[in-house]
Amino acid sequence: MSKQLNIGLFGFGCVGQGLYEVLSNSVKFKADFQKICIKHPEKKRILDQQLFTTNKWDILNDPTINTVIELIDDPQDAYIIVTEALKRNKNVVTANKKLVAEHLEELLELQRKHHVSLIHEAAVCGGIPIIRTLEEYYDNERLTSITGIFNGSSNYILTKVFKENQSYQGALEQAQKLGFAETDPTLDVGGFDPKYKLVILALHAFGIILKPKDVLNCGIQNISSIEKNVYDDSSLQIKLTPSIQRLPNGHIQAFVLPQLIGTTHPLYNINNEYNAVIVEGIFSNEQLFIGKGAGAHPTGSAVLSDISALCYDYKYEYKKYYHHQNISLDNSAKIKLYFSGEKQNLEKIFGEDRAIEVENGGVVLAEESIQWVIDHQKQIEALSLFVAQIHNEALVPLQKWLKKYELVYALT
Ligand SMILES: NC(=O)c1ccc[n+]([C@@H]2O[C@H](COP(=O)([O-])OP(=O)(O)OC[C@H]3O[C@@H](n4cnc5c(N)ncnc54)[C@H](OP(=O)(O)O)[C@@H]3O)[C@@H](O)[C@H]2O)c1
Repeated sequence: MSKQLNIGLFGFGCVGQGLYEVLSNSVKFKADFQKICIKHPEKKRILDQQLFTTNKWDILNDPTINTVIELIDDPQDAYIIVTEALKRNKNVVTANKKLVAEHLEELLELQRKHHVSLIHEAAVCGGIPIIRTLEEYYDNERLTSITGIFNGSSNYILTKVFKENQSYQGALEQAQKLGFAETDPTLDVGGFDPKYKLVILALHAFGIILKPKDVLNCGIQNISSIEKNVYDDSSLQIKLTPSIQRLPNGHIQAFVLPQLIGTTHPLYNINNEYNAVIVEGIFSNEQLFIGKGAGAHPTGSAVLSDISALCYDYKYEYKKYYHHQNISLDNSAKIKLYFSGEKQNLEKIFGEDRAIEVENGGVVLAEESIQWVIDHQKQIEALSLFVAQIHNEALVPLQKWLKKYELVYALT
């Protein structure tokens, strides 16, 4: 039987208002907000001013409110709101990936202890229903990898730079104006936002709790005209792709790196603010999910779906976590890597004979482990080098492109 939800909403910004609009257009599902907590009381609202409060305890201490929807942009306060709501036996829906990724263990324990549910579909790839798909559809399948494009703003920037000849800075400013990019763009272009999402998916897909600080993230900030030349001459594109893979030893490799991909790669035509998730299982093989990763309505629709699930007391079961715990993060496997930047800067890491001189700088192809990149990350950043994984189908076109410079680095 459907349960009566008495909702306290936190945040009435992009997603909060998006949720309200999606709800208003829902024919079958009706839910009322008892109270809405916001930060700035002076802002004009589209709803009755009486509904709003700036005091979070008005919602948290109200025993008639059994459901909290957390959609604010302040991670510290979001942590207090979510944990205090769970402790007061309220079910919670949140869209906050950083909060969830950084406190997974504690949030699981609070749910277990207080017999409540915390669901967070909107925190990962906005409108793509990936978490419940992993929890319900793939609950018994041994997955081998998850990758994709989890950050709409960096994908938007890369599309504008490669396909529309815009400058990186111009494309970033446009992404901010359109509301895709976070106020602090490093979270997007530095690969932090997709890392939080990867950490959440790792739990649902592989049953492992990763600490964000242990997962490598390199971003697209140091992309340059060299990569644009690669694209113009060989059609190879850069995408910022988080990736989790099950290694032959059963452990997990996880990282966020830009990736050089060829025209046959399933992510090649995922452009602008679109997100995609590729799930690969031993028996199901490869499945590709595409959708809008952000924005008021796609995200509001994911929140609405979570609210509606709470009417039936839905809980994530975390079957993979509770039943198969013997896996850990393993950064030792080697992957094929592409580095670019000023030739003399590349030489500081790789020595004089490794950097291939190309127009406007140098390139190095290497085969190193993720641990090696983590160990050299500070130096890579200080030298403003761009690093990307080379996907299989991109290697031959990349080597052909380098032949143009009559220097071929033989990568076995
Ligand atoms: N935007 C997206 O497309 C998207 C997609 C997926 C997930 N998310 C996540 O959804 C959450 C909300 O994002 P958003 O884009 O909707 O943010 P936003 O447009 O900046 O709105 C934030 C809202 O939170 C309120 N607020 C801020 N601090 C508060 C506090 N301490 N107590 C109570 N209310 C507070 C603000 O109040 P005022 O109105 O008074 O300023 C505002 O209504 C974030 O976790 C974000 O990462 C967003």
